[in-house]
Parts: sequence; structure tokens; C-alpha cells
Amino acid sequence: MFKYAIVKKVSKTFQYGLTSSKLGKPEYNKALIQHSNYVEALKQSGLKVRTLEIDNRFPDSTFVEDTAVINEDLAVIANLGADSRKGEEIEIKKVLDEFYDTIESIVKPGTLDGGDVLRVEDQYFIGISQRTNKAGALQLKELLGKYGYACSLVKLKKVLHLKTGIAYIGDNNLVISGEFIDNPLFHEYDLLKVDQDESYAANCIRVNDYVLVAQGYKKLAESISNLGYPLFKLDMSEFRKMDGGLSCLSLRF
Ligand code: GLY
Repeated sequence: MFKYAIVKKVSKTFQYGLTSSKLGKPEYNKALIQHSNYVEALKQSGLKVRTLEIDNRFPDSTFVEDTAVINEDLAVIANLGADSRKGEEIEIKKVLDEFYDTIESIVKPGTLDGGDVLRVEDQYFIGISQRTNKAGALQLKELLGKYGYACSLVKLKKVLHLKTGIAYIGDNNLVISGEFIDNPLFHEYDLLKVDQDESYAANCIRVNDYVLVAQGYKKLAESISNLGYPLFKLDMSEFRKMDGGLSCLSLRF
């Protein structure tokens, strides 16, 4: 069970963030409404939400998940892979200091974005991506290994982050799309395969009893619902334009 979430207000420079989506410029006011609905869903799922103030120096800083990897034992501060995002982690470290006795950091030459780190029970999968390099992944593997967590590295081919295409929603159920479907690393789980036309929705999150899914992806929503999970369906259009998804918008612990 999670107790807390950390989120960060959408910066006024959001439209200048990193993206490969070619879906156009995000509408700021719409993004604010979508963010507010997201926070409300976290609260309805039972979380106390800490909202960090806006920081216009960092267009992508609302995607707070990339700044750290956290679990019940420790927090690991990321060394973000994109130059324009380096520094976002400084504020997060200060906040996590209030919650954690043990805080470690990924350091040069390692880079790592939290979006590349998927936890499945006591197993972690770490994506080697445009943002996370092997040195960063191996540092995280060593840190988590001290606490008994096993780690497997997954080389990404197309998607930005590992969690762009895969999510664990509990009870051995893995939501999986695209390049990951044929990867034998994931075949021990019960796979909910996401059709190509709904691939964006693969980035969903389990928060206590609920699963938060992007609105408008009916097939996946139905598959998850059929497993008995209550859903929050959230409009994510403006975050999608900036390559962001549901997991990216919070740190949950
Ligand atoms: N816009 C999210 C990212 O590229 O990190």
C-alpha cells in the first residue's frame, strides 16, 4: 500500500519541454485541469499528496517520477539523462530527506531516469534507454541488491522510457505493449497485451485498490476492469503531447 505521493505543478514553460510526439503544443490551462484531476484521483486512492511549487526553469519538471527511485527501504536520487532536466532532482532530494533515512544517488558517468525503472514485487527491471545508461543501471542494481531486490536490465529499442510501454498492476498482472511483448524476461507474468492503437495506455498505475488509466483507450480499460480492479480514467492529452504519462506525474511511496 502507498501512503504518499509527491507531485509538482506544471511549469509555465511546459510547452518547451522535450518531446518526440508530434502531437502539437500542449494547452497550458487544459494541462492544469488534467493535473488537478490526477491529484484528485491519487487522493481518492488514499494518498496524502505533497504538491511541489512550480519551477519554470525546468519545462519537464512536472514529470517528477524521473527524479528518483523510491521504495520502503531507500530513496535513490536519479542523475537525469537529458541535459535540460539535470537539476530537477535537487528539490526532490530535499523533500525525500524528510521521509527517508537512507538516500543514495546515481552519479556520473551513470545516468538514470526513474521512468526506466519498473518494480514488480521484489524484482526490478531497469531500461537501458536514451536516458538511462548501463553505468546508471548497474549503480541502481548494486544499491537495490543490498536490500535484497533482484534487478534485470532491459535494452529499449523504440520507446522513451521502460514504463512508456509496460506497467505492473499487481497480482502477477503485467500490462505490456510493443517491443516488450516478445521479450522472454516478462513471460513468467500474466500479460495484458496492449494493441498498437492503444499503446499510449500501457503507461497506467496501480495505486492501492485502484488502477489509473488514460481515458479513451477502451480495450485496455475493459481488460483491466475485467480483472476486478476499479478504475480512474483520466484525460492525459496534454501530457501525452510532451511524451508524459500517468506514472511520470508522481512519486508514490
Ligand atoms: N518530456 C518528458 C521527457 O522527455 O523527459
